[in-house]
Amino acid sequence: MSKKIAFFDTKPYDEKSFTAVNASFGFEITYFDVHLNSKSVELSAGFDGVCAFVNDDLNKDVIDHLIEHKVGVIGLRSAGYNNVDFKSAYGKIHVLRVPAYSPYAVAEHAVALMMSLNRKTHKAYHRTRDGNFSINGLMGFDMYQKTAGVIGTGKIGKCLISILKGFGMRVLAYDLFPDPGYAKQAGIEYLPLDEIYKNSDIISLHCPLTKETTHMINEKTIGIMKDKIMIINTGRGKLIETRSLIEGLKSGKILAAGLDVYEEESEYFFEDKSEEMITDDILARLLTFPNVLVTSHQGFFTAEACHNIAETTLNNFKDFFDGEYLKNEICYHCDKLCLKKQKKRCF
Ligand code: NAI
Repeated sequence: MSKKIAFFDTKPYDEKSFTAVNASFGFEITYFDVHLNSKSVELSAGFDGVCAFVNDDLNKDVIDHLIEHKVGVIGLRSAGYNNVDFKSAYGKIHVLRVPAYSPYAVAEHAVALMMSLNRKTHKAYHRTRDGNFSINGLMGFDMYQKTAGVIGTGKIGKCLISILKGFGMRVLAYDLFPDPGYAKQAGIEYLPLDEIYKNSDIISLHCPLTKETTHMINEKTIGIMKDKIMIINTGRGKLIETRSLIEGLKSGKILAAGLDVYEEESEYFFEDKSEEMITDDILARLLTFPNVLVTSHQGFFTAEACHNIAETTLNNFKDFFDGEYLKNEICYHCDKLCLKKQKKRCF
């Protein structure tokens, strides 16, 4: 009998890519458009697995309910997993993710934000459509020979670095686990975080959201950055303390900010709110700046990435239901989050 999977927080484009790929898996998929959270978790009754996305809230209560409903597996259709309470899940329900689907998609989006903000194409678009062909105020700068600070040199950070090197930029990097061999080959320099802040013209965030990285961009760290810094965040919203970012923008310390993610995005991002008022005053303030470009978590959104997400997610479910080793499992093991390396199931 085919296994039943409940998909949460789905949009028509999710349905399209998963339904196409599922033709060769044959799962019985039900698509729910609501977020998975304490209010909606009852919908999971009778399903063998649930599939969740970045703004679903897999807190202790939700996990306990999933376990009560005998759901054996959570398949995240994302790389990030900061929205899951792993302590509650460990030993009771398996959590799988899509570690990589297209790092190019996110890196290229980070560059799109950088280039739009630099050359002000977002403003030029409106001007020319309005018959205004003036270029006053649209002056940018050469990327060539500027310094980029890349925080997190994993899959996405590395793709970004190769693009920025193509511009002829100097690249400084910080990672909790620096990779000296890669640095040599890519022609970049690993430095402590403070040095990245002090020396970069553009800072781009590509590390995961953890206890250590929460609000890493704050009043103090903005204070040590170069004047006229450009900050790009395609990582997770909470890497930046938004109130401090706003102060930095108001004072002119920050030249521009490109944000594909936002601290409180779950209320707004991915939804059409064009007929409503924005009640989040911080988001509303951000949207008033001409030098802030907000996109709504679309870094991943390319045809290639969506196909890969669907394929890996359904393969993850297949591995679970077939009793195979779960290569994309995340578990809370030995009292710390471990991305398992052993070739067997943890429990
Ligand atoms: P990855 O796991 O390949 O790389 C993350 C890197 O960050 C690793 O090299 C790791 O050592 C480093 N790191 C860990 N803790 C750190 C710390 N405290 N300080 C500095 N570096 C640290 O992940 P990948 O695929 O490159 O993704 C990076 C992040 O991008 C994800 O965690 C996710 O939050 C975000 N993302 C955003 C998407 C979007 O659509 N905007 C889509 C996919 C991912």
